[in-house]
Amino acid sequence: MGSLLSISDIKDDVKFILELASKIKAGEMEEKPLEGKTLAMIFEKSSTRTRLSFDVGMHQLGGRAIFLSSNDLQMGRGEPISDTAKVLSRFVDGIMIRAKKHSDVEELSKYSDVPVISGLTDFEHPCQSLADMLTIKEHLGDWEGKKICFVGDGNNVCNSLLLIAPLLGMDISVACPKGYEPAEEILKTAKEYAQENKTEITVTDDIGVALENVDVVYTDVWVSMGDEAESAQRKIDFAPFQVNADLMALANDGAIFMHCLPAIRGQEVTADVIDGPQSVIYDEAENRMHAQKAVLYYYMKD
Ligand code: CP
Ligand code: NVA
Repeated sequence: MGSLLSISDIKDDVKFILELASKIKAGEMEEKPLEGKTLAMIFEKSSTRTRLSFDVGMHQLGGRAIFLSSNDLQMGRGEPISDTAKVLSRFVDGIMIRAKKHSDVEELSKYSDVPVISGLTDFEHPCQSLADMLTIKEHLGDWEGKKICFVGDGNNVCNSLLLIAPLLGMDISVACPKGYEPAEEILKTAKEYAQENKTEITVTDDIGVALENVDVVYTDVWVSMGDEAESAQRKIDFAPFQVNADLMALANDGAIFMHCLPAIRGQEVTADVIDGPQSVIYDEAENRMHAQKAVLYYYMKD
């Protein structure tokens, strides 16, 4: 069955997982499909939504989740990731991990006998983009022919959106300052997906160009976890990319505003936008749980 470290890992099943998520959300799911199953949740970084949504989601599917802070695990004292993976595999049926380094999650997955699900690394945030796409479908009716614009840092959240959008028939643009573009490796793969699905990808520092014909405006923090040392410079570099009412006016009428949260009002987005009528941020947060229940079912059901 493999692991979910990148949207590319579910390239051919993204639609299936999202349809399953809609059914689960609508209550069209057998009772307790993961009864007796346990998910270990390793966190090397802070979390509100990811921790809660996986924990409550496992419970609702009839299983249980165990929170493991890397500060308390022997892994935090230097126990090899390979040993951690092999030992955890003897106890649990799946491992969810939020890690500082994507390569550490790849290593965990390599040595694990049970599925590993990423709850964010420095490179991708696949469960977030699944929840985002569920939210877009609910608000816009479909993905096909729609366009999303990610404004800000070409970070983990942006990378997963770049991969998932073309797989669902959406165009995607990224408006970012020079030097903060998404990873080359991601762009290369995303462009292949776009070619296969006849969609468009644009990366530009011209906000006007990026916002042309856009149905979804998405942003994220300027300073991600791990980038704190660059905080002062980033606040200067990203200032022109703040999502405010003037920027929203460049998008289509009826466009929605999205943010993975946590947000800093007054930095990447103004309060009138994030708390305004176009914002769907709380649906988006709730959908983390519905999307991840589908992921848990997909990877852990016998
Ligand atoms: N969006 C998201 O992953 O939130 P948390 O950091 O609170 O888990
Ligand atoms: N890009 C942000 C997302 C937080 C959910 C970070 O990595 O900190």
